[in-house]
Amino acid sequence: MGSLIAIRYDRASGLSLLDQRKLPFETAWLPTPTPQDAWQQIKDMVVRGAPAIGVTGALSLASHLTRNGGGKQYSSVAAVVEDVEKTMDYLVTSRPTAVNLADSATKLKAVARQAAAAEGATPESVTAEVVAAAEATLEEDIAANKAIGAAGAKALLDAVAARGRTRSGGKVRVLTHCNTGSLATAAYGTALGIIRALHDAGALEHAYCTETRPYNQGARLTAFELVHDGLPATLICDSAAAALMGAGDVDAVVVGADRVVANGDTANKIGTYALGIAAAHHSLPFFVAAPTTTLDASLPSGAAIVIEQRPPEEITHFRGQRVAAEGIGIWNPCFDVVPGSLVEGIVTERGVVPRDHDSGGHAVRAFMGAL
Ligand code: MRU
Repeated sequence: MGSLIAIRYDRASGLSLLDQRKLPFETAWLPTPTPQDAWQQIKDMVVRGAPAIGVTGALSLASHLTRNGGGKQYSSVAAVVEDVEKTMDYLVTSRPTAVNLADSATKLKAVARQAAAAEGATPESVTAEVVAAAEATLEEDIAANKAIGAAGAKALLDAVAARGRTRSGGKVRVLTHCNTGSLATAAYGTALGIIRALHDAGALEHAYCTETRPYNQGARLTAFELVHDGLPATLICDSAAAALMGAGDVDAVVVGADRVVANGDTANKIGTYALGIAAAHHSLPFFVAAPTTTLDASLPSGAAIVIEQRPPEEITHFRGQRVAAEGIGIWNPCFDVVPGSLVEGIVTERGVVPRDHDSGGHAVRAFMGAL
């Protein structure tokens, strides 16, 4: 069996996305020829996971610029810059909480503006630079995830050892939430990348994944990845996590992130906050794994993060069948914010973000400033 991937791209054939709504029962690829298709497919959860959304947006721009003539379609360099800005600003409106797509937009717009300012710039040269930068995001994300895996496995093992919880053979039992693996990224994964790295090092006794209500990314996607890759793993209901910790069967928790703000407050899949509280109660290390594309030092705290609300049908219906009483009100935020003070470490591809002892959280702004 080959490695799982969610995003296919080459310059000649363009972009296509694995339809994650159909997993684990069906493997179907959808073409993504235009930014409008990418916007809709992100919105509809064909592709999801903060890094995967960021890479999809970048590759959609690359595909759009290439398909339209590689620069020949523009009358001036200013027209290329305008189209890059318009296209990325539009794509960013697809989902509000994950910051990675906004990060792609900021970087690619800067590349366009810089290329346009170069001496002798032509529409073709500006387009070529933007396409190359957009295409590079795929490999950059994979490299970031591998680095997070290595750094995170070490940090997690150290934290478990410091609590005297390491199992025989130097192994650990790790709980994770939502899907943060190959399907949520360009490949390998962030939190699931750390679990993979522990497994590869012979240090994973067991992985527990939560089903992740209401959209079931854990049951449908993480369980699928864990089985696919042959890792020792068990699926639990979200509501069983505290009981599992109470039974002494978890040594550490590691989750991904959709946005990590200046003080380390972390937006991630709904239920992450409860896991952070339960881990603190049981004195378990709670790690966040995120590439630097997920860090957003422009927001001071989690209170400023826009939390996406999803359709009521995700709660009222199960596989197309209504299961909730007609007339009941619905509140369905798909992310929550775990305070930075509950997070033991934020692991990025550039290392672990230092603690900020004044706020009790993490010094994300200083960390980013030093990159
Ligand atoms: O709504 P989703 O499926 O896009 O939510 C995904 C998550 O919350 C992940 O934990 C997060 O994006 C990190 S993925 C490496």
